[in-house]
Amino acid sequence: MEQDIKKVLISEEEIREKVAEIGARISEDYAGKNLLMVGILKGSVVFMADLMRAVTTHARIDFMSVSSYGSGTKSSGVVKIVKDLDNNVEGYDLLLVEDILDSGLTLSYLRELLRDRHPNSIKIVTLLNKPARRTADIQPDYCCFEVPDEFVVGYGLDFDERYRNLPYVGVLKEEVYQG
Ligand code: PRP
Ligand code: MN
Ligand code: MG
Repeated sequence: MEQDIKKVLISEEEIREKVAEIGARISEDYAGKNLLMVGILKGSVVFMADLMRAVTTHARIDFMSVSSYGSGTKSSGVVKIVKDLDNNVEGYDLLLVEDILDSGLTLSYLRELLRDRHPNSIKIVTLLNKPARRTADIQPDYCCFEVPDEFVVGYGLDFDERYRNLPYVGVLKEEVYQG
């Protein structure tokens, strides 16, 4: 597995420090609120598991699973809900937890969908932000790292469902995804 990685972009140690910092900020900002952390499967699971333990205020968690609709291209920005939230979100302060904000189409669609359910508030926390690829008008409220437009995997992020279990974020060698 590691032989497929060109370089480590963000080390375990750097991730640990930054997640603790962002967790502390979220804890302050959501003190006295009705926080519901919503992980977007599957990429967010590792970040979610670490971030929720860095949050020291009351928090609930839930997950959504989405897939791009029809053709397999995400360009339409329409996503199909494969697994919805378990409960009504009215009155909750939603924090959408993502591994990466890329084109932004997934989250801008989800945010609109969730807005219609009248939560108190909706914010976004992402491990990685890749602004170079943004097409939707959306930005994270909390972001751990900005990354260049490279093929990043690990800490939840996959290529063809592999590499999610790497404990760091790395850049994949070209020959791996070029076949
Ligand atoms: C990836 C990533 C984000 C989304 C970002 O998920 O985890 O959810 O794409 O892309 P966007 O900003 O261009 O919409 P993916 O659909 O690969 O599913 P996964 O989380 O199961 O890997
Ligand atoms: Mn995802
Ligand atoms: Mg993926």
